[in-house]
Amino acid sequence: MKYNMKKLVIAISVAAFLSACCNEEKVPVYRQADRPVCDRVEDLLDRMTFEEKVLQLNQYIIGLNTNVNNIGEEIKDVPGGIGSVIYFSDNVELRNELQRKAMEETRLGIPVLFGFDVIHGFRTVYPIPLAQGCSWNPELVTELCSVAAREARLSGTDWTFAPMIDVSRDGRWGRVAECFGEDPYANSVMGVASVNGYQGDDLYNTDKVAACLKHFVGYGMSQGGRDYTATDISMQSMWDTYLPPYKACIEAGAETVMSAFNDINGVPATANHLFLTEILKEKWGHKGFVVSDWNAVEQLIPQGYAADRKEAALKAFTAGVEMDMKDNCYREYFEELLNEGKITERQVDEAVARILSLKFRLGLFEKPYTEPLPESERILTADAYAAAERLAEESMVLLKNDGILPLGNPGRIAVIGPMAKDKFNIVGSWRCHGNAKDAQSIYEGLEAEFGSPALNYAPGCDFDGTDRSGFALAKAAALKSDVIVLCLGEKSAWSGENASRSTLALPSIQEELAAELASTGKPMVLVLSNGRPLELNRLAPMADAVLEAWQPGMKGGSPVAGILSGRVNPSGKLCITFPWSTGQVPIFYNSRQSSRPDQGQYQEIPSGPMYEFGHGLSYSEFVYSDLKADSEDITKGRDFKVQVSVTNSSDRDGYETVLWYVTDPFCSVTRPVKELRHFEKKFIKAGATEIFTFDVNPEKDLAYVDSEGNPLLESGEYRISVNEQTLKFNLK
Ligand code: GLC
Repeated sequence: MKYNMKKLVIAISVAAFLSACCNEEKVPVYRQADRPVCDRVEDLLDRMTFEEKVLQLNQYIIGLNTNVNNIGEEIKDVPGGIGSVIYFSDNVELRNELQRKAMEETRLGIPVLFGFDVIHGFRTVYPIPLAQGCSWNPELVTELCSVAAREARLSGTDWTFAPMIDVSRDGRWGRVAECFGEDPYANSVMGVASVNGYQGDDLYNTDKVAACLKHFVGYGMSQGGRDYTATDISMQSMWDTYLPPYKACIEAGAETVMSAFNDINGVPATANHLFLTEILKEKWGHKGFVVSDWNAVEQLIPQGYAADRKEAALKAFTAGVEMDMKDNCYREYFEELLNEGKITERQVDEAVARILSLKFRLGLFEKPYTEPLPESERILTADAYAAAERLAEESMVLLKNDGILPLGNPGRIAVIGPMAKDKFNIVGSWRCHGNAKDAQSIYEGLEAEFGSPALNYAPGCDFDGTDRSGFALAKAAALKSDVIVLCLGEKSAWSGENASRSTLALPSIQEELAAELASTGKPMVLVLSNGRPLELNRLAPMADAVLEAWQPGMKGGSPVAGILSGRVNPSGKLCITFPWSTGQVPIFYNSRQSSRPDQGQYQEIPSGPMYEFGHGLSYSEFVYSDLKADSEDITKGRDFKVQVSVTNSSDRDGYETVLWYVTDPFCSVTRPVKELRHFEKKFIKAGATEIFTFDVNPEKDLAYVDSEGNPLLESGEYRISVNEQTLKFNLK
């Protein structure tokens, strides 16, 4: 009997093994989650028809486009096999309905990739990126981006079109709100922090999203600050200013890149083989894919680079754009282009492989559907709000304070201005699913901080226009108060895409209201909520203090009130220069040296900025001392340390950010007067001293780059400076 049992067990095992093998045959490799992604991609490509492949290279839209400058029609019907959609909804059912069509009604069941502009929050919107840049807190930016990623993924969005890392020095350009300011290093660090927050270390998790670096490249140099215009950028500037943030983020693992709208020196970014293929893929080794910006392939026609949609498709694809956003040029013409031998199936396979690889790594084949969760578990959690509030506190910049702040116990406060009770514009441009009803106004923050009996409110005026009828009431509110908090600023629609403005000044009605209130002689705090650097040479002198609150998102009121009361010690520092006048634009700290530094000034206005890059006041006093290097013998190939002591000589604990600059006064390629190469933010208790250290790697931190993109490190004099201190040394 025992022998028979043994035979039986063997027979069953063999049968099981065989059926498993057969079963394995029945389950195609691309559906086997434990197989390497490259095998799954290869297997799936082998099974796809040319038409199925081309569908993967197209992105349509679904839902209602609510972007105020690009309002579009509601789209509901999209082919099941489409590669990707821009998903304007947060309705999980709509997403799952389209995904089910892809998974169950198409031959191979390839999931759709859902992308959207989650720029500074999904539903819990936090400060605009330009404000984030003023926090100098990359860890906090990472935290908020992971909050945004979680809310997005749990709401059906797998891919965000962020971070935007276009260095910009022209506040007239509405999209300056979306970047991290004028400095390449700051955009690099904050861009990497964003990528880390969005993607985490495993995209397979269902609370992470793929990032998308945009807009590749040089879009921030749009002529006159007008959107969509051509750009003229030397290759030297490309390498030393506009490309570094992209290189840093690619090295950090950013999955995708978006090609820009601008023409670059005669070749549009969306058809520019040098940047899209030679630099991005061949030099930097990017393994992800490039998606065009909205209709940017078809726009090669008005840019004068393609005669028709077919040529546009050919030029964009062969330059290195794998996915065509919205205009359908690829789907319409690839069959013809293939038959004419202008593109090859191998090229198409290579492009499709990049897209499929991301879908596999996002786990979309195994988890194509989004689990419907109650809002309470998905968005606007207390933790999300708290994180948004912290970032808002650290992003706000105290530009001026003649001593009136902190208010302490101010008596009666006149709260005046178009931004005082605003809950819509305070959220900022690119608000994603941010809803004004979830936002806190400045007034609400002041009410919670000081109590409503202390407040006298009057709107004063609108954001623009000529209606002065509210001035009298505003003046009356001021006269019966002890201090005025004047809340001025911009509409959120004055920033973002297609939102350029010819002047950085606020509309004159707002300045006139400020003058009217200043005439009362009451102490006045000016609070600003805006999406760009402003021209404040008339406004700032009227106020005793000026707080740049930016567009802080959902939780802006409490941070403003906390800074005014002194509960919050302001720590923000400008990541973009505030010009004295719009006429100075472009004006930025890291410009090249003048041949006559003390001449060539404007005749009728100051030539320096109103508030410079790095400016920001605190309630603490920080004293810098003892800047020194740990070695006298500084040579190439050997790291060295530079340190500075910072003492908080006040009685208030506070954060201080030390910005470390490098200067190479003489070089075979002239360099900016100084270049930010390191920064660190620390909490310093009252009376305490902290040591800030810059671990210098000459090849990384002192080097420059030539017009071919090759690193350039020459021996000779260098300077490292912090605050007012400078250390000179010789690099051997
Ligand atoms: C827009 C923007 C881009 C955005 C895309 C999708 O035109 O230029 O930043 O990600 O289209 O909305």
